[in-house]
Amino acid sequence: MRRKLAAGNWKMHGLATDLAEAETLARAHPAPTVDVLICPPATLLCRMVAALARKPIAVGAQDCHTAEKGAHTGDISAPMIADTGASAVILGHSERRADHAESSAQVAAKTIAAHAVGLTAIVCLGETEAQRDAGQTLAVVSEQLRLSLPEGANAENTVVAYEPVWAIGTGRTPTLDQIAEVHDHLRALLPDPNIRLLYGGSVKPANAAEIFAISNVDGALVGGASLKADDFGAIVAALEAAEGTGGAATP
Ligand code: PGA
Repeated sequence: MRRKLAAGNWKMHGLATDLAEAETLARAHPAPTVDVLICPPATLLCRMVAALARKPIAVGAQDCHTAEKGAHTGDISAPMIADTGASAVILGHSERRADHAESSAQVAAKTIAAHAVGLTAIVCLGETEAQRDAGQTLAVVSEQLRLSLPEGANAENTVVAYEPVWAIGTGRTPTLDQIAEVHDHLRALLPDPNIRLLYGGSVKPANAAEIFAISNVDGALVGGASLKADDFGAIVAALEAAEGTGGAATP
């Protein structure tokens, strides 16, 4: 059975004072029955790891370079992320693909770098609105999955997040049927059927339960709603409830 995962992506948000949100979340959820992960900006990684020491909330980064080290001003490498005590890294987020022209081939190379140091890679993919309107969604996500996951990706080292670009930060979400269609499709294509599949894009306390009830949804990658302990805590609770009822575990 796949253990569910609630992952928070703080993006370029968060100063030292915001560590209190993670601490509040940890106090409110001292023994979560699902995996919980927060991915703060790189500047907070070390302090977040310290703040959550001995708490059942993991810490991850939001990107890494393909190389171990070198002349790459401003980048951080997978070994540096592992060195902070973080255990995961988001790769291929649509904002990286758009803002930094990251290709799926680069995402695969970054995933290899993450795996080499024992980081869990959370590999993101998803269609644009134009691609959905053109009926290309399944073709686009299939191709992204094929090119972004390297040899050796498995349930131990990789999580895949389906994030429709048009649903990120917009308050708009696909219908439950549309999410189910993509997740069922991706599940059949995964190199390891036990790789967890997260949905991401405007997940919030109000819609989390219905999304988590979808078969083949193993959790969420949450942006805006992960910044506040109350909101993210409600999403964690909804995921725990889905697990309690069997939710996405239905075959
Ligand atoms: P959102 O972002 O929850 O703010 O829509 C999700 C993401 O980009 O991971």
